[in-house]
Amino acid sequence: MLESLSTKVQDESRQGEAYAPSAAGGREYKKKFYIESYGCAMNFSDSEIVASILNDNGFGATGNYAEADLVLLNTCSIREKAEQNVRQRLHLFRQVKQSKPGLLIGVLGCMAERLKGKLLEEEKLVDLVVGPDAYRTLPSLIEEAETGQKAVNVLLSREETYADISPVRLDSNGVTAFVSIMRGCNNMCAFCVVPFTRGRERSRNADSIVRECAGLFEKGFREVTLLGQNVDSYYWLDEAADKTVTFAQLLEKVALIDPLLRVRFSTSHPKDITDDVLHTMARYENICNYIHLPVQSGSTRILQLMNRTYTREWYLAKIDRILSIIPDCGLSTDIIAGFCTETEQDHQDSLSLMAYSKYDMSYMFFYSERPGTLAAKRYADDVPEETKKRRLDEIVKLQNRLSHESNQRDIGKTFKVLIEGDSKKSTEDWKGRTSQNKMVIFPKAGTSAGKGDYVWVNIEDCTTATLIGNTVQEEVIL
Ligand code: SAH
Ligand code: SF4
Ligand code: F3S
Repeated sequence: MLESLSTKVQDESRQGEAYAPSAAGGREYKKKFYIESYGCAMNFSDSEIVASILNDNGFGATGNYAEADLVLLNTCSIREKAEQNVRQRLHLFRQVKQSKPGLLIGVLGCMAERLKGKLLEEEKLVDLVVGPDAYRTLPSLIEEAETGQKAVNVLLSREETYADISPVRLDSNGVTAFVSIMRGCNNMCAFCVVPFTRGRERSRNADSIVRECAGLFEKGFREVTLLGQNVDSYYWLDEAADKTVTFAQLLEKVALIDPLLRVRFSTSHPKDITDDVLHTMARYENICNYIHLPVQSGSTRILQLMNRTYTREWYLAKIDRILSIIPDCGLSTDIIAGFCTETEQDHQDSLSLMAYSKYDMSYMFFYSERPGTLAAKRYADDVPEETKKRRLDEIVKLQNRLSHESNQRDIGKTFKVLIEGDSKKSTEDWKGRTSQNKMVIFPKAGTSAGKGDYVWVNIEDCTTATLIGNTVQEEVIL
């Protein structure tokens, strides 16, 4: 959910990204694995844990599936389309396997968890089905599969956080990294499959999180994003010291590692983000002024059916509160068009809420019924597809306008930007982000700074998705 600031209909915008083998560290591996990740940042982060487990067991990563002994798809179930994408991809690997009979194919992640053994019946080429809490057993499951048996482990855990595993940063820009701080979700949003695929919520040992972030900083990384389905309900009991660590306290611990390490987090559930978190953000310059606060709908009636546990008014008061404590806070959201029973008035309520909140960016979806969820059991998926799509289209158009207006308000201002690398379009330009998570493009010619450095950039122009500027000065580091 964090990959880009552009306004988009997110139908698995990060889909099927394959990792390049960058982190082999000179080790020799007997076998090679290829992994593709789908869905949310948690899944991408999990693939780095899987890579670490496989490296320790004699498998090196390859970015070319043709030379792999093991192909893994780390899958997403959030919408039907996400699952269809994976099934199409499996079709391709069926052909690859025909010409390479020893090749093992594994399905990991949320689709593995949702469909379990059924996946083996439906997709005959699959050898391994492994759920998100069972990655430590991958080496033994692979051994089993190598003997020609199908291997399945979809046990969910109440404790697993992979706290002690150092993720292998594959395909990394060397500047920004995801750090998982909790797993699972205890909220039962009526539309959502995640509680079923990821299990109960559990928080990771705070010391291991701080260690991982400090290690990244030492390696030259300058930004960490703390990840969880619901980060604000992070709560870790430090039994040794007989004290607890809340999310606000964790944020502070990570911010204190070094002022040059930027800290971001995702995702916040509106019901859980506290004043404590907001004040901590305001206190530390290196905690980015950006909050992704998924609203889902602007209608209180729909929010109730969705089991989101807040009203429209409560959400809007939260937006006001955020801006009163952090006046320049960047805001983004997730919105679903066409949830069960949604009327034209409910839809108008979503549009007016968006206009009030002036989101810089949104991820926008039309409702996709997921088997087993509360909504699938209780309500009819009764908004016609054309209506869903038309409403989504109106939402996207409004967001495009809001994003453009938000960017235009930044023209003439100067922002501190962390350089992430070459701009996509030209190696003559750098790209980087502001604290508010807006992407900025500016000419390399104006600065001697490089990747991982902070520079002050004056914004001179913009598109809907990007700010365009010129360096004013490099950050002076004493
Ligand atoms: N934990 C995060 C969201 C994870 S899923 C949170 O609560 O904010 C990411 C987004 O996918 C959700 O915010 C929601 O907007 C969307 N989504 C989830 N289930 C969906 C469904 N069945 N149909 C359409 N969109 C869905
Ligand atoms: Fe799904 Fe709701 Fe949990 Fe987010 S908070 S993962 S939308 S159940
Ligand atoms: Fe998809 Fe699972 Fe993430 S369903 S959005 S990969 S938690």
